[in-house]
Amino acid sequence: MTLYSNIVILTGAGISAESGLDTFRDKGGIWDKYDLMELATPEAFARNPDLVHEFYNLRRAGVQKANPNAAHYALARLEEKHPGNITLVTQNVDPLHERAGSRNLLHMHGELNKTRCLLCGAVSEWSDDLFTDTRCPSCGQAGYLRPHIVWFGEIPFYIEEINIRLSKCDLFISIGTSGSVYPAAGFIQVAQNYGAETVELNLEPTDGKNLFSVSHYGRATEIVPEYVAELIRQD
Ligand code: APR
Repeated sequence: MTLYSNIVILTGAGISAESGLDTFRDKGGIWDKYDLMELATPEAFARNPDLVHEFYNLRRAGVQKANPNAAHYALARLEEKHPGNITLVTQNVDPLHERAGSRNLLHMHGELNKTRCLLCGAVSEWSDDLFTDTRCPSCGQAGYLRPHIVWFGEIPFYIEEINIRLSKCDLFISIGTSGSVYPAAGFIQVAQNYGAETVELNLEPTDGKNLFSVSHYGRATEIVPEYVAELIRQD
């Protein structure tokens, strides 16, 4: 009989750091190099769509060359082996969880390899560069495509589904996230209110560290496979 029937896992940029993808708030991170107000808001896109497309084109090209690391593969292994339900909620917009084999995956901040048409609403796979005159693969019209990314000030995807999963979970694991951005940063409190065991796996303690019942600190490629192996041993 497994210890945990419903596990919710939240990942952030730290799980992809050892795959060569920048985090946001570490020294030298994305928000150190770029001004989020100029690149990651709906107003920024309305003001200068070419600049915003250029920023996401750079990041989209970067993820094409990146590979999943041992932490991504460990979570895919947990989903395969664990007899209970596993929901993987990621704040990341890279495709590394999918590439590692995770299936039950919710990209709450969107995906770099997708584009959304503001005219017909279609969301299409897209791993190339996007420009203001790129034609929508669905309706064929040019000038209406945006990155399928949740910008600051916009509502993340799957929030209702995530809250339902959190209300049923008996184990909540937060991996590689600073817990700086809501609503993701509030998931630990929701899980705790429903009595779940809460675990933080991160390079270093975060501001929310005292909220977690268990914490392991170190590089994701070391501490995540170790923790997953222990969970599978308990099954
Ligand atoms: N292993 C484990 N954790 C790591 C590693 C690593 N190798 N490297 C960095 N970390 C940790 C850092 O200590 C930090 O706590 O990952 C966390 C990354 O935090 P952020 O850079 O704030 O990234 P994240 O929490 O994912 O940001 C959330 O903010 O800008 C928005 O939409 C963006 O989804 C993003 C959201």
